[in-house]
Amino acid sequence: MANKDPFDASHAIQASEGFDTKRLRSKSIVITGGASGIGEAAVRAFAKAGAFVTFGDISQDRGSSLAEELGKSVAFVPCDVTNWNDQIRLFRCAVDNSPDQSIDVVFANAGVAIPDGRLDAIDDDGEPTEPDVKGIRINLVAVLYTAKLAKWHFRQSRSGDGCLIMTSSLAGYWDHQGMVPYAATKWGVRGTMRALRQDSGMRVNIIAPWFIRTPIVSEEAWIGIEEMTAPVFAEVEDAATAVLHLACDEEANGKSSEPSMVVLMLMVGIGRSLAVVPRSYVTEGYMDLGARDAWDIENIAQEHHWVVKM
Ligand SMILES: NC(=O)c1ccc[n+]([C@@H]2O[C@H](COP(=O)([O-])OP(=O)(O)OC[C@H]3O[C@@H](n4cnc5c(N)ncnc54)[C@H](O)[C@@H]3O)[C@@H](O)[C@H]2O)c1
Repeated sequence: MANKDPFDASHAIQASEGFDTKRLRSKSIVITGGASGIGEAAVRAFAKAGAFVTFGDISQDRGSSLAEELGKSVAFVPCDVTNWNDQIRLFRCAVDNSPDQSIDVVFANAGVAIPDGRLDAIDDDGEPTEPDVKGIRINLVAVLYTAKLAKWHFRQSRSGDGCLIMTSSLAGYWDHQGMVPYAATKWGVRGTMRALRQDSGMRVNIIAPWFIRTPIVSEEAWIGIEEMTAPVFAEVEDAATAVLHLACDEEANGKSSEPSMVVLMLMVGIGRSLAVVPRSYVTEGYMDLGARDAWDIENIAQEHHWVVKM
């Protein structure tokens, strides 16, 4: 009998099965925060697969030099994701840059660490400081901007296969007491996926990385994190591979034996979460979070001694 829940574990993506990047050739990809870290790795991986990549970032120097290095199929657009007009421009440039004048895959990835993780910062008089909401605007509000523009552009596209991928975090899965505002934004991104996947007419997925040593925080901060974790880190390349897997694998949820169910799932979207995890846990460095994306990260992290005190 067909499974009525298109998001349950039976449709989980198997990283070990791999995927075919052929379908990315000449596709048009939009990436935010593409000048560094996970975004940069995704820009490189999509370009290598033969796609047309248009990426935005506030870091103009790094963005321009990356685009220059990768050649004509990659375009950099200076873009502050919190600025709606900047994002409109980013998407317009992607349409102009693509052979089909369309957009096929959008990766909403730009993000920052957020200060005052425990919400206990005080000023010189010992009074609570006003929380800084800039990071919330980058990590969550701007992702909603990107999702809205993705949805609109996918509807204009002839291919009918729009794929939105967002970067959440494993901080969107557990009680992360040292990163309260950051975790709130990443739970928000996860919630955005959960709500959008139901009926948005596009495939909607997230990646949820464990710690990856990128410039998102200073090297000093990484040393501190290293002392608190086992230490085990996930790899930036595995995050990019997870993103490409989601972009390529139209039937990654197609475990149902009923073709009609596959069609239904493509209509409502896949809606899966790929955790990007240390290779010591999973060889491929990423794994599906399982039934209705409700993986018990806390137990697994403790079992594998990833988190000592945090
Ligand atoms: N590194 C980790 O441990 C980790 C873990 C889980 C999730 N993430 C998430 O992964 C995503 C990428 O982070 P990363 O680790 O690659 O960090 P990174 O700092 O290497 O890259 C983030 C990029 O986003 C850009 N950016 C920041 N603010 C922006 C803005 N307002 N407009 C446009 N671009 C902006 C930065 O300039 C940078 O190029 C973020 O959403 C982050 O929250 C990272």
